[in-house]
Amino acid sequence: MPSYRYKLLSSGDDDGELTTKPTTRRKNVLFALVAAAAALYAMFTAVRFVVRTSRLPCNSRMGMHRNLSSLPEHFTLASGDKIPSVALGVWQAGRNEVGNAVKVALKAGYRHIDDAWVYYNEEEVGQALKDSGVPRSEVWLTSKLWNTFHAPEDVEPALDESLSKLGTDYLDLYLVHWPIAFKKGTNQFDPELTANPYPTWQKLEEMVEKGKVRNIGVSNFNIPRLENLTANPLKIKPAVNQVELNFWNPQPDLLEWSRENGIPLEAYSPLGGTGYVQKSLDVPEVKAIASELGITPAQVLISWHVQRGTIVLPKSVTPSRIEENLHVVALPDDLFETLETAATSHPPHRVGNPSKGWGIPFDIFDDYPYDDVEAAGEREGAENWGKGVV
Ligand code: A2P
Repeated sequence: MPSYRYKLLSSGDDDGELTTKPTTRRKNVLFALVAAAAALYAMFTAVRFVVRTSRLPCNSRMGMHRNLSSLPEHFTLASGDKIPSVALGVWQAGRNEVGNAVKVALKAGYRHIDDAWVYYNEEEVGQALKDSGVPRSEVWLTSKLWNTFHAPEDVEPALDESLSKLGTDYLDLYLVHWPIAFKKGTNQFDPELTANPYPTWQKLEEMVEKGKVRNIGVSNFNIPRLENLTANPLKIKPAVNQVELNFWNPQPDLLEWSRENGIPLEAYSPLGGTGYVQKSLDVPEVKAIASELGITPAQVLISWHVQRGTIVLPKSVTPSRIEENLHVVALPDDLFETLETAATSHPPHRVGNPSKGWGIPFDIFDDYPYDDVEAAGEREGAENWGKGVV
């Protein structure tokens, strides 16, 4: 809750600037003007307070113990575009439920939907956007280029398909979904196209020039893969890198590299994904902070992501959770540090890794010795990611 300090007004007699004394009548007029200005200011402050607090968690206990302030609603990308800091993630949001989730989200105030060709729900998302009545220009829409379409000649047709399904003629952001290319028309690893992502990137740059996409970026790239791409004479630097970030896999080194190199991170599976969400919400530090601040554990985690400077993409198809997840709040510094320390002081545990399931002969993230990939957190069902695509 903001507190305002009022500076006492000078009488005007003692500052040496006013040379003529006002008559009593003029004094009264002056007094009335000052009183009216003060009343207007108080009204403005009250309205601003109501507007600000309406974006904070709806929990009635909120702020009982600490003064809470709001977090940025947007981050500004290198292009100058403002990307809303909290998005609705729609990975694993199934058919016949994703459309409603999008409508609920837009009604609740979300203005950012994170989709992908391979989520197989672009059509329903596009329809929901249209039905919502929210103008296209007010919504940040992201989609992603699937692994099968890295060959330069396949990029534009894949993008066109996403545009058509989403019912739009441009995307705000288009990402290379994985640093892994599959051979054309198959689900098999293509080592050459994977080793050199530059031809694919050049085609994406062309899509920006054509106006089909406003920003381009990558997803699931680790530092060596980012360095491999950015060592080329890029016309456009990746706008973002979307990666798994959560309590179990907070990736502080990648976060630091990203800050230093001006490529912000987007956090997918920010609550740990379906398999780890309950465990995340039960982390003692998360629960303690939630209880101290009077917000929910999910709000603590989502706030933490935004406060780390990452764009956060919580997925939910449940209306009450969709609403809950939008309400972020700045954690007081000491509580933020408590959570950051807790998240970064256990061995990292990636909750999703499709390397083995896709038959890739190395760990895509270079996190672990290859034989440990599975034990180190292969997400249940990850071997099926993208299957049935061709
Ligand atoms: P559901 O979609 O059924 O509401 P992540 O964003 O890390 O991928 O996590 C997604 C999982 O977390 C989904 O199972 C989703 O369930 C669940 N979830 C999303 N928001 C919340 C919340 N506020 N509280 C509890 N579970 C949530």
